[in-house]
Amino acid sequence: MVKGRRLYEGKAKILYEGPEAGTVVVHFKDDATAFNGEKFDVIEGKGVLNNRISEFMFTRLREMGLNTSFIKRLNMREQLHKQVEIIPLEVIVRNIAAGSICKRLGLKEGERLPRAIVEFCYKKDELGDPLVAEEHINAFGWAEPRELDDMIHMALRTNDILSGLFAGIGIRLVDFKLEFGREYSPDGMVRTVLTDEISPDSCRLWDMKTDEKLDKDRFRRDLGGLVDAYAEVARRLGIINDSNPGGTGPKLVKG
Ligand code: TMP
Ligand code: ASP
Repeated sequence: MVKGRRLYEGKAKILYEGPEAGTVVVHFKDDATAFNGEKFDVIEGKGVLNNRISEFMFTRLREMGLNTSFIKRLNMREQLHKQVEIIPLEVIVRNIAAGSICKRLGLKEGERLPRAIVEFCYKKDELGDPLVAEEHINAFGWAEPRELDDMIHMALRTNDILSGLFAGIGIRLVDFKLEFGREYSPDGMVRTVLTDEISPDSCRLWDMKTDEKLDKDRFRRDLGGLVDAYAEVARRLGIINDSNPGGTGPKLVKG
């Protein structure tokens, strides 16, 4: 696979021009950052696991009819996506109180919220991605009203699908962050598509029995064991197994 020019380097991923026009290659790094890049470390193996887990999530969502930019995984660290114009918002869905909503509203971590809550943050590193209201999004034109409706609808549908999927493997989907883009088709249509990644870097995942954290809070809160936790998620999803930590390749059949 021939990668093109480097288009953009983010905190955990690098984007390259794809092999064909209108495609990009997403490369998952081992870099871990938190608190808007203040805390930084390189955690060997994280990129490979996030690549596999995110591939799994996007594939399931696509099967359920969601528009996504994901095309296919290319190798252990890279995947091919359709190139989209990024909508400058982070869309957060919360089922259980954790993280910033606890500080903001004085909630106790672990409290179930009255219903799933969708929040928007404006993607602006210099400002630390501040929480914004629909009023700001409309007034500043960061997204069209139709796109806002699409994002809320798609975020809640993603929540339903992924909550069920994780519940099936004994994991509570506490909250997660999504990003969306605009796909321009040749006929002049603009579609809202789910893009970026869905991985333990962008979700809070708690073991249902023990409440053990299986996500990036292990790094944010200096709990250690991040790769083991991500590998546990991948193992329960059936992406990796103990005899073949690299993936589900051909299985040895005993005769
Ligand atoms: P928060 O509680 O810190 O606002 O995070 C809510 C969810 O969004 C949590 O699952 C982590 C995820 N998240 C990101 O993926 N990127 C970010 O930059 C932030 C702040 C949160
Ligand atoms: N991703 C953000 C950062 O790198 C924040 C976070 O995930 O906690 O700082």
